[in-house]
Amino acid sequence: MKRKVTKAIFPVAGLGTRFLPATKSIPKEIMTLVDRPLIQYAIDEARAAGIKEFIFVTSRGKGALEDYFDNAPVLEQELRRKGKDELLELLKNTNMESGAIAYMRQHKALGLGHAVWCARRLLGNEPFAVILPDDVIAAEKPCLQQMVEAYAETGGSMVAAMEVPADKASSYGVLDVKEGHGQLVSVKGMVEKPAPGTAPSNLAVIGRYILSPKIMQNLNQIKSGAGGEIQLTDAIALEIEKGRDVYGFRFNGKRFDCGSKAGFLQATVAFALARDDLKDELSAYLYEIMAQRKAAQ
Ligand code: G1P
Repeated sequence: MKRKVTKAIFPVAGLGTRFLPATKSIPKEIMTLVDRPLIQYAIDEARAAGIKEFIFVTSRGKGALEDYFDNAPVLEQELRRKGKDELLELLKNTNMESGAIAYMRQHKALGLGHAVWCARRLLGNEPFAVILPDDVIAAEKPCLQQMVEAYAETGGSMVAAMEVPADKASSYGVLDVKEGHGQLVSVKGMVEKPAPGTAPSNLAVIGRYILSPKIMQNLNQIKSGAGGEIQLTDAIALEIEKGRDVYGFRFNGKRFDCGSKAGFLQATVAFALARDDLKDELSAYLYEIMAQRKAAQ
């Protein structure tokens, strides 16, 4: 019988240098798409997929993240006094039950694989999910939920996958596909950030994973890989070498690369246009500036 996936790791130790100077004093994961921090999207997706335990791998300077998930008694009291029930309701989603959330420090930035390995003692012998909050996925059914349902049939390990343009493949983990052309593909190899022109396909890993606990043993074994870092991709590739199943899952949905400024802005616009309270005003403005740009050309 395949076990349920109830624990998720959120690697949030990165310095966020691409968003300096903002990230000098706020963690990147607290930056907002409209009015919700990136991390809230990740948490909501995890909850929808049935995750009950949330493990954050953090680093120095990420205190604001811990506060974000804590109760805010003074603020709540004030909102209650003013009868702002809607806002109180909104805050409820940010509160975590005591004991449902754990913070683990990654003392050195040694890579994504190392960040995941830092959580090993909290996982036990169960499959677990990994969510990279930089990858925000807008989908009717949240991406991790789609994967949990597929995983219930397959077991093994599974990564979210998406076709990318060939000249972008070297920014990703890339799958070497054994078979399957539909939503689920079985994988015979994986390469992290292949040199330009050497990628085995253009099917890239996106930041959602359901992993066998054996990955932790693999992380003990592997040496540093691409960029001199301990790569999660290499630990998953080792599963394949050991004869165990790894799948790529082409999710339904639109992924935004919120690790880049352009991706972050696109996500901001897309999420704002999806909101009843903002879409009219914003789309009118977008039409206006596009018309001005055209006229100026
Ligand atoms: C990480 C992973 C990579 C994956 C990517 C998806 O890379 O190492 O395999 O394709 O996330 O966003 P990073 O973007 O942190 O360099």
